[in-house]
Amino acid sequence: MPVQLFEGKDHAAAYLQYRVAPRELISRIMSYMEKGTPNQFKLAVDVGCGSGQGTILLAPYFTKVVGTDISLAQLEMALTQSNPPNISYRQSLAEELPFASGEVDLVTAMTAAHWFDRQKFLLEADRVLRPGGCLALLSYTMDMELEYGDVSDTLSDICKEFYTLLLPYRDPHIGSSSLKIYSDMFESCSYPDKEWNECLRVKRTLPLNGYIGMVQTFTPFQKLLQKDPAEAERLSDDMRNKLLSAMKASSPDADVTVVLKFFYWLARKP
Ligand SMILES: C[S@@+](CC[C@H](N)C(=O)[O-])C[C@H]1O[C@@H](n2cnc3c(N)ncnc32)[C@H](O)[C@@H]1O
Repeated sequence: MPVQLFEGKDHAAAYLQYRVAPRELISRIMSYMEKGTPNQFKLAVDVGCGSGQGTILLAPYFTKVVGTDISLAQLEMALTQSNPPNISYRQSLAEELPFASGEVDLVTAMTAAHWFDRQKFLLEADRVLRPGGCLALLSYTMDMELEYGDVSDTLSDICKEFYTLLLPYRDPHIGSSSLKIYSDMFESCSYPDKEWNECLRVKRTLPLNGYIGMVQTFTPFQKLLQKDPAEAERLSDDMRNKLLSAMKASSPDADVTVVLKFFYWLARKP
């Protein structure tokens, strides 16, 4: 049974609004691909594409890009973006991709593979990839940091406190460390040409409320929201107030810089 925690329309809308599109990683993926086969790339598939903010970044490099996801709510939201004409979306399981064997140049999963049946997905990615095609899996740790004037450490501590309170709501499918999930997947990939990369710090400056909106898209927060909406609201209000007070700012529209710590791995099918 797939994990289906992404069906809510509000959750999908928040995804599109708040989740970070990992631009910096796309250029790294493309350099890795070009090293192996500097050809015209025909087809990329972004598995677990959600609302498509990562999928769309692949458009300039491929004749065709297909975002796939199990959640219709997420796919509907992806269709509301201004998608280039070479992008399309399909509902499908990560473990049963709707592509012929050997037809895909690149399979990506952005902040998504930890939700899949990982061994089945790796086999399925191997089936659809052409020889020389690449697999790119990326995600980031939940312990994002904030930068703001000379109170960055204080803000990051307040955020850590919040993440710790959310830990009991992490889904058992993920356990306590997504980094470990990805490194286990990396170890189990038999392709000889592969590389692991940890701690690529990606920064985005956005209003404090945008950061809080992003954290609220995380599944532990969504779980708490379902279980106890008042407590979820109290926790996020408390975090907002503590952050504002440390920043000596009066409005949550004040800009902060969010630092996300991405890790990713790339592999080329022999
Ligand atoms: C955390 S979201 C990431 C979305 C997007 N890639 C991003 O970067 O923001 C994970 C996505 O994976 C999808 N998903 C989870 N399990 C899946 C499965 N077994 N097959 C296909 N999609 C799945 C969810 O519906 C959700 O949209």
